[in-house]
Amino acid sequence: MCKNTTILAIETSCDETSVSVVSNGRNILSNIISSQIDVHKKFGGVVPEVASRKHLESINQVLDSALEEAKVTFEDLDAIAVTCGPGLVGALLIGLSTAKAIAYSKNIPLIGVNHIEGHIAANYIEHKQLEPPFVCLVASGGHSHIVNVLSYEKYEIMGQTRDDAAGEAFDKIARAMGLGYPGGPLIDKIATDGNPDAIDFPRAYLEEGSYDFSFSGIKSSVLNYLNSKKMKEEEIIVADVAASFQESVVEVLAAKLVKAAQAKQSKYAALAGGVAANKRLRQVLKERGEAAGIEVLYPSPVLCTDNAAMIGCAAYYKYISGRTSDLKLNAIPNLTIGDVRI
Ligand code: KG4
Ligand code: ZN
Repeated sequence: MCKNTTILAIETSCDETSVSVVSNGRNILSNIISSQIDVHKKFGGVVPEVASRKHLESINQVLDSALEEAKVTFEDLDAIAVTCGPGLVGALLIGLSTAKAIAYSKNIPLIGVNHIEGHIAANYIEHKQLEPPFVCLVASGGHSHIVNVLSYEKYEIMGQTRDDAAGEAFDKIARAMGLGYPGGPLIDKIATDGNPDAIDFPRAYLEEGSYDFSFSGIKSSVLNYLNSKKMKEEEIIVADVAASFQESVVEVLAAKLVKAAQAKQSKYAALAGGVAANKRLRQVLKERGEAAGIEVLYPSPVLCTDNAAMIGCAAYYKYISGRTSDLKLNAIPNLTIGDVRI
């Protein structure tokens, strides 16, 4: 019988310190996530310097918990995986130096993983039948891409945002309404009590056939609506604004993903990234997918937002095809999908 491949993965690209142990790519033995949200909340967003300091403070403890929960020691590991970009440079460096120290001292391979490719890989963990090719929407705080996943290592970017990322739009609108940070989960929750047809915010479909996104127009439209209501001293029904804003973002994301899957004759349309946790997006996509004969897949919410298990999964496919990194691996804050620099 073949030996299991055990990979320890580290994710510190933004405001979650996470370490996971993953067996054979798709089985999570542990996935510890220490969130810094409470620290950044009072600033209304992530403060990079604070994020780096917090990663440094918690990384060793998170690492110990991940090994303990997985019931493994460093001696059981076949490789160390780490997110090397995109992300905040100072935050990435904490994960990278930890990973390099373990790889060097234990003399095991180091595998640099692209954070966005990690988000896509989160789908493999819970959908054991899923294999490339398939089409995937990656929507998070920093990215909004429609990707044709050609293989475990090759990606074709079909479309991407021309301005704000989808999650960024959720965060900015939530802040303008005084809901707090991060905005996505708060809008998702409050929108369940609102009327999605209350306000007719614009839908940015862009040119015919384009898979790109633009969220700056809807963002300005909501901000103008809120300002005008305030000037006229009229009541703002927050749940209606949240539901109407969410609906216009969700409709465009869902329509473009289904169209992209149809264009590539993909059996599956997958969702990934923090925004993939959105309940309304999941519901609308399921309906549209069913109507188009496309199976819609998404990870459970904890694997949609930042976590190290998805990095361990993506790393496994690099490991089995011999794509390991050397100890000179550095943080690449502007890494793109399929980037050949790692
Ligand atoms: O993937 P992620 O954890 O970090 C990045 O790589 O950016 O995504 C975080 C983003 C935030 O903008 C957050 O507001 C958004 O995902 N988000 C959501 C939901 N949960 C998280 N957006 C909409 N609905 C949600 N339920
Ligand atoms: Zn992310």
